[in-house]
Amino acid sequence: MNPIHQLLTSALSFFPKPFVKPFAMHYIAGEKLDDAVRVVRTLNSKKMMATLDVLGENVSTRGECLMSVRACERVLHAIHEHRLNGNLSLKLTQLGLTIDEEFCASNVRSVLEIARDYGNFVRIDMEDSSTTSATLKLYERLRSDGFENVGIVIQANLRRSEDDMKRLLPLKANVRLCKGAYAEPETLAFTGRDEIRSNYLRLLNVLLSAKCYVGIATHDEVLLQSSLQTLQEKHFEKASYEFQMLHGVKTTLRGHLVESGHRLRVYVPFGEQWHAYSMRRFKENPRLASTVLRALFSQD
Ligand code: FDA
Repeated sequence: MNPIHQLLTSALSFFPKPFVKPFAMHYIAGEKLDDAVRVVRTLNSKKMMATLDVLGENVSTRGECLMSVRACERVLHAIHEHRLNGNLSLKLTQLGLTIDEEFCASNVRSVLEIARDYGNFVRIDMEDSSTTSATLKLYERLRSDGFENVGIVIQANLRRSEDDMKRLLPLKANVRLCKGAYAEPETLAFTGRDEIRSNYLRLLNVLLSAKCYVGIATHDEVLLQSSLQTLQEKHFEKASYEFQMLHGVKTTLRGHLVESGHRLRVYVPFGEQWHAYSMRRFKENPRLASTVLRALFSQD
């Protein structure tokens, strides 16, 4: 990250929300479920699948967690009602992971049961490394409780991910593979671009060879090219993976993948708690500095 970008990204977290909101909305479907439904309909009409995310994380009271559970349930009802081609992504800290693991487990179970009734699927997003062990443990527990409609995420930047992945292979886990969005210390994470890319490709290969369904979640064109090459060389079937991208990022790339016959899913976040999510996206946006500076100087 160049110094101006770094400075702006840190500064943006202190800017008043009304200033930041227009930039944040680039990555978010809107504040209401109806906004997300509209976006997903458009994606579906372009042969793209979606995963909906009710924004919110690190919730601190049981009451807020229960509100998040209800919001997740509303998403599942809406997907069914509007016949959308989409599923749900959720964060465990939104459902109480850092309050009480048992409480969180029972919250996730009630969401999974509704999803199962609809024949739908729920992906547990992966958050920062302080939650990795607890997230994997809960995922394994849900699978041993008989839930087949749940998936997990592995972050290629974490040094521990290879070992974590080995635990998931016998479960034939449905894994979203991403680089990892959280700033982690060098003791825990690879920080060089090339080492993250090679770890990503190593993990992708092992997962696909073990017949785990993989969500290849990246917008990195080098990584996408290498992934496509691996898929072709090893003759992995198109039904054994999908590409995944974030709403508002690299939209032209998606079209190319779909036209070439690959399955593609777009992550569609919505809701009022857009701040933490959009801060992570700003950090990844190479054009952020120029966009914000242009906006600052075009203010009346
Ligand atoms: P990289 O950051 O190198 O970006 C490659 C290129 O894509 C950039 O050069 C730029 O052109 C474009 N780009 C990327 N991000 C952009 C942005 N915000 N704005 C504008 N352009 C951008 N992480 C995590 O820790 N836990 C999770 O559960 C998930 N879930 C998840 C789901 C899906 C569907 C995706 C695509 C990603 C995630 N992530 C995630 C985020 C992921 O870990 C990673 O932080 C981002 O995808 C950015 O990494 P890339 O692989 O795209 O590479």
